[in-house]
Amino acid sequence: MSEILLKIDGREVKASEGMTVLQAAQSVGIIIPTLCHHERLESYGACRICTVEAEIGGRTRLIAACVYPAEENLVVKTRSEKVDKTRRVILEELLAHAPDSVQLQALAQEYGADKNRFDKEPSFCILCGLCVRYCSEIKKKNAVGFGDRGARREIMFIPEIASSDCWNCKECFPLCPTSYLQAAYVLTEALSGLSAEDR
Ligand code: SF4
Ligand code: FES
Repeated sequence: MSEILLKIDGREVKASEGMTVLQAAQSVGIIIPTLCHHERLESYGACRICTVEAEIGGRTRLIAACVYPAEENLVVKTRSEKVDKTRRVILEELLAHAPDSVQLQALAQEYGADKNRFDKEPSFCILCGLCVRYCSEIKKKNAVGFGDRGARREIMFIPEIASSDCWNCKECFPLCPTSYLQAAYVLTEALSGLSAEDR
């Protein structure tokens, strides 16, 4: 596998072909925030909180570090005025959906995001897809999926699968950056009329 040399925050970083900018940064202990990324799952590129600045062919662009491949001679800045502003706006938008998320609040503090900037549309799910992808890619169950509710997508458990497979798994719960996943599960459990005693 050929070696790639790039620069991240002024440091020379050696990466292997196939690695993303995020993986290259993580390999030398440089932290880039993520919300929809999980090392065991396919890259998804949904939340854009991992946005960094990269110099490509003499031009500077904002890229999503979790999906962008590490390239020879790429020059990456993980913090800059533009990067911080982008992350701030993303957080402000996400906080309109999930204002009580502890993970979002911690990031908001770091980037100076105002959780009241946008009108609240509390859906509580930020559509990171971690639960859906974990259940599908790792557990091969598809007990939770995206339901199409017009303009508003949301996750939902499939009661027939959830009632038999979720109660002794729940591995997706700690992945959720908001409280929505657990709430959706409890609701599904209640509506499907199944309790632990029934099993
Ligand atoms: S329920 Fe949680 S983990 Fe699942 S997509 Fe929504 S925010 Fe992400
Ligand atoms: S972590 Fe990169 S787009 Fe979500």
